[in-house]
Amino acid sequence: MALHPPLLAPSILAGDHAHLAGSVAAIAAAGLEWVHIDIMDGHFVPNLSFGPATIQALRRNSRLFFDVHLMLDNPHRYIEAFAKAGANLISIHIEPDYDVPDTLRRIRDLGCQTGIVLNPGTPASAIEPVLDTVDLVLAMTVQPGFGGQSFREDVLPKIAEIDARRRDRGLTFRLEVDGGIDLTTAPRCRAAGTDTFVAGTSFFKAGDRAAFSAAFAAL
Ligand code: DX5
Ligand code: ZN
Repeated sequence: MALHPPLLAPSILAGDHAHLAGSVAAIAAAGLEWVHIDIMDGHFVPNLSFGPATIQALRRNSRLFFDVHLMLDNPHRYIEAFAKAGANLISIHIEPDYDVPDTLRRIRDLGCQTGIVLNPGTPASAIEPVLDTVDLVLAMTVQPGFGGQSFREDVLPKIAEIDARRRDRGLTFRLEVDGGIDLTTAPRCRAAGTDTFVAGTSFFKAGDRAAFSAAFAAL
């Protein structure tokens, strides 16, 4: 029995960068409640994307839930700016060298939900110390930095392992996947215990986004 109903969070990295508010509105028009926003620093990942000012501008025009994914070497320096800009949930990576538990505590103190992210090559054991303090665990299904990459099948056993740890400890965090998610890869993630699905390319390229979203809701 799944812990949470399936939830689709389109990533605006694949949206229209000349009209991001329009891309966010298209997500709402498809009947969805979450938008995934990727923040890149050019160090932790070899790419750049958006800043707090972008989030603030989008927040002025939207009441959607902002799921903000920080791909930063130093997220602890930026969480306040993103919380103030309108983030609802802030996810940070386990890999860089900074005080992860303290940063998660500060995110919660800023009034946001917390998420912890692990790259494809990072074992589930790495996040065990913080599992009981987060609202969401994000298992990357591509190496972060770019949209439009192919889904990594080899991550599926780890997703099942995180789901098993969640059940064993009676925890209720959401389990999210991100990268190469579409209507072919999502069912396999769902079977492994996933309940939250980030989709960039597949959502914004879908001919009928409402039908695409309804198919995720039926997983
Ligand atoms: C990649 C980002 C993803 C990306 C997903 O580093 O974290 O959120 O935008 O895009 P698709 O769905 O196109 O793989
Ligand atoms: Zn992301």
